[in-house]
Amino acid sequence: MKRVLSGMRPTGPLHIGHYLGALSNWIKLQDEYECFYFVADWHALSTMYDESGSLEEYTLEIVKDWLAVGLDPERSTLFLQSAVLEHAELFVLLSMITPLSWLERVPSYKEVRQQMSHKDLSTIGFLGYPLLQTADIIIYRANYVPVGIDQLPHLELSREVVRRFNHMYPSTGGVFPEPMHLLTEAPKVPGTDGRKMSKSYGNAIYLKDSAEEVWEKLRPMVTDPARVRRTDPGDPEKCPVYELHVFFTSESRRQEAAEGCRTAGIGCIDCKKILYEQMEKLLVPLREKRRVFDEKPDLAGEILTEGSARARLECARTMESAREAIQLFRLNAGRAGD
Ligand code: TRP
Ligand code: SF4
Repeated sequence: MKRVLSGMRPTGPLHIGHYLGALSNWIKLQDEYECFYFVADWHALSTMYDESGSLEEYTLEIVKDWLAVGLDPERSTLFLQSAVLEHAELFVLLSMITPLSWLERVPSYKEVRQQMSHKDLSTIGFLGYPLLQTADIIIYRANYVPVGIDQLPHLELSREVVRRFNHMYPSTGGVFPEPMHLLTEAPKVPGTDGRKMSKSYGNAIYLKDSAEEVWEKLRPMVTDPARVRRTDPGDPEKCPVYELHVFFTSESRRQEAAEGCRTAGIGCIDCKKILYEQMEKLLVPLREKRRVFDEKPDLAGEILTEGSARARLECARTMESAREAIQLFRLNAGRAGD
């Protein structure tokens, strides 16, 4: 079976944008591939180094969301990056052969620094972000990496680094295969204010929101601004509520709503009610499953612990070959923690 790997930074609870953009795909991939999914807490630390106190909570939230949507720890290895120290070892080794210029020219380096200009990101950790990501991927010899379009330059760097490593330290077959991206078409999922759904805009509907919370967010949601009164006809093409319908509501019900909108036959509240009911079809079973993990507070952590142990076995194998290819002096004393 070919191998898939992907990671998410623990920056907060997951919302329906994460579900539609990434998770629904991760779930499907479990049927066809051997999957490794991990919480990239070191990557989160590269920008959150001064808010590290929330990492533990966010990590557990994410894992509970993963389990609730149907990532299956029996089939996929779910693990925590910082529990698998081999990622850091490989990062150090790769850093010896990676020119600074390769990292400086990764577009996200400049972009994110500009977006987050209030924060000092002139750190080694932040510059090295895509190289750590490379280590995350190739230490599992992953064949495919499901990511959004913004991550493609990182995958490109990973392949360049692999080529350089295999060329510089040849061994039969090469230690690392070049990882390929599986491009996830990132749909634009609008939040309640019409902008892209994002925690930082405060416009997100979270997978863990209660039914009441979801409705309290949908009810005042932005609609076609031309539809001021109930009697004004609207244009669904200009309405973020309708954009959400596209993900959740069947074609025929959607047509009906669109028609009602254009003729002022239905009001926005009616239209949002329909959306709410359709969204709840996804969210009700999620909440149910999540409750199991809320009631057993240690369970999510235990699953992560088990997954991380499994991940380490895999890394140990790769690192043996990597050290051998480099011809690092091998002591027989073993390593602390083995
Ligand atoms: N950089 C990725 C993101 O922001 C997270 C990530 C870290 C990742 N390591 C990875 C994704 C390895 C795929 C593979 O979404
Ligand atoms: Fe948007 Fe629906 Fe109101 Fe039309 S009726 S403006 S699609 S919320």
